[in-house]
Amino acid sequence: MSLVTVKEILEDAKSRGYAVGAFNTNNMEIVQAIVESAEEERAPVILQASQGALKYAGIHYIVGMINAAVKTTTIPIALHLDHGTDFEQIMMCIRNGFTSVMIDGSKHPLEENIKITKKVVEIAHAVGVSVEAELGRIGGTEDDVSVSEREAFMTVPEEAKRFVEETGVDSLAVAIGTAHGHYKGEPELDFNRLERINNLVDIPLVLHGASGVPDESIKKAVERGICKINIDTDIRQAFTRGVHEVVKESPEEYDPRKILGPAKEEMKKIIKEKIRLFGCAGKA
Ligand code: G3H
Ligand code: 13P
Ligand code: ZN
Repeated sequence: MSLVTVKEILEDAKSRGYAVGAFNTNNMEIVQAIVESAEEERAPVILQASQGALKYAGIHYIVGMINAAVKTTTIPIALHLDHGTDFEQIMMCIRNGFTSVMIDGSKHPLEENIKITKKVVEIAHAVGVSVEAELGRIGGTEDDVSVSEREAFMTVPEEAKRFVEETGVDSLAVAIGTAHGHYKGEPELDFNRLERINNLVDIPLVLHGASGVPDESIKKAVERGICKINIDTDIRQAFTRGVHEVVKESPEEYDPRKILGPAKEEMKKIIKEKIRLFGCAGKA
């Protein structure tokens, strides 16, 4: 099977009322953990690379690893750029085989966000690549923002309607109370807001910062239009836990395969749990 676009994957998710996991990857073991989990659960899956991942691994390794993974499986896989903020880098991803890109103009005022998103959509659509954008601001769990500031950053439903109409974007990341990274307390999602956004726009919605969000909240979000769910921190923590366990049990171990192999198995456990929770198991 060859790579598919995120748009194709999410169209099925939206019409059948489930969400697809979009898992961040930075190295071969993470790619394998994601693809093996999706294969074993018969789930469509999105592998995404951040700007940091591209800097760490290099675009050719990222694309090469995902193309190698595609050869090992028959499930639909999309390769997506996560939080792209640089126009030239986005073009580079498109040229090198990404089937989907995110243009994250969320730090700009609305008009500017519309302008830069529209430009990327025009080019990406001309070559069959799908586009995700962000409206509102999804910060980091470490950001020191008050409750009222967080509220001010949330997506305004009427703006979402205008944004989607004017940009022609394929999916929209919404700020409804989640944040990137490890939560200290329990995140509170604004389901009312999500419902209002979902009533006003008819494209699939995306939930970022989903690691550590309680299962019940994930299910409620999927019922209210979330079709793509981004997970990174949970995988990082599983990887690190796996490495720590081996190093603690066998401090003399020096074969990387005996350290990274168990780390991969730890990642697979959490990825499979998420796939089942999101409702995409058995949908491939
Ligand atoms: O949204 C952020 C993702 O978790 C990627 O993080 O920029 O450290 O690769 P990163
Ligand atoms: P977490 O690291 O909080 O899971 O967020 C992932 C994400 O949103 C990537 O874009
Ligand atoms: Zn994100």
